[in-house]
Amino acid sequence: MIPCAEMVRFGKNGSDATSGAVRLARAYTGRDRIAVCGYHGWQDWYIGSTARNRGVPSAVSALTHVFQYNSLESLSDVLRKHPGEFAAVILEPMNVVDPVAGFLEGVKSLAHQHGALLVFDETITGFRFANGGAQAYFNVTPDLATFGKGLANGYPLSAVVGRKDIMILMEEIFFSFTFGGELLSLAASNACLDKYAQKDVVKTMFEIGTLLKKGVVDLIGKHDLSDVLSISGHPAWTFLNFKDHPTATLMELKTFFLQEVFCRGILTAGTHNISFAHNQAKIFGKPTRKPHRRLQYGCVLFQDLFRSEESTHRKARRREHSFYALCSRPDDPSKLLMIRTSVILEKDLERRSFLGRSFK
Ligand SMILES: Cc1ncc(COP(=O)(O)O)c(C=O)c1O
Repeated sequence: MIPCAEMVRFGKNGSDATSGAVRLARAYTGRDRIAVCGYHGWQDWYIGSTARNRGVPSAVSALTHVFQYNSLESLSDVLRKHPGEFAAVILEPMNVVDPVAGFLEGVKSLAHQHGALLVFDETITGFRFANGGAQAYFNVTPDLATFGKGLANGYPLSAVVGRKDIMILMEEIFFSFTFGGELLSLAASNACLDKYAQKDVVKTMFEIGTLLKKGVVDLIGKHDLSDVLSISGHPAWTFLNFKDHPTATLMELKTFFLQEVFCRGILTAGTHNISFAHNQAKIFGKPTRKPHRRLQYGCVLFQDLFRSEESTHRKARRREHSFYALCSRPDDPSKLLMIRTSVILEKDLERRSFLGRSFK
């Protein structure tokens, strides 16, 4: 099903798989440095390269180098700075935007020119873009790839797959965990893989996602929001993108949007990961009183809130919510915080005008 998968080794989390692939690449090449693009999990080797690097030894962070998506120049710069030292180039084959023509092929050939392995992190794209993942969809086969999420549809299972001559080193490196032998998730994965093979799961998600994307584009046009909002991504995994506006930063706008849709019982992170269980009625149905998630509803509300100073939805605002939300830091909106939404709501009750930057 997956083009590069000559052998497989299972893990539990996406981070198990990406960290396993990186260790494998280091063992295979005898090199230390890694080039990264995208999100690859919580382990030191990756997270040390981000702003959330507290607690990661600088010696570890120094071995990971970030390059920009759709910029072969940026990858080339990174690789050229430390010739002969890169074990792997790992990237999400796609997230927010489509790869420009030749980008993925170019990444592969640059990695190989520099003696590094190419790893696709397909934790999200796997079984979503195609049964064989983004590598099948874009027809670029990496040396190794990692899968998770759709592999067992929510059961804790991930996988490192790839070339046999590399994968065989799994026997030499250490890749083991307390629940590594848990079997229920393997059974769940068997059932999922059968379903992917028998039903048009990917095609259905593509069609539904295309409708959703078009619906959002129409709503953005209808409410004249293109100066602050857009949607991008593969139809099965789309992103709402906020833009800076003279009255507020994009982080402030996104935070405000999330706050206000949570307030109305719509739980979203600003991305849409379509599932086979979605259908047109679920996406385009009328808003209900239930805590149901209608994107249409959220978008209309956003328009209300953005364009008018005073919301007409004060009642809903008083509800307590116990889930967590991503929010920009009041003292520094460029930084993110994980906070309880109830805290945001209480604060916003005191200060009505978020767009006036009074987030105190
Ligand atoms: C592309 C990608 N790689 C790796 C990970 C890490 O997976 P986990 O959180 O299961 O460790 C994630 C998680 O969202 C992911 O989206």
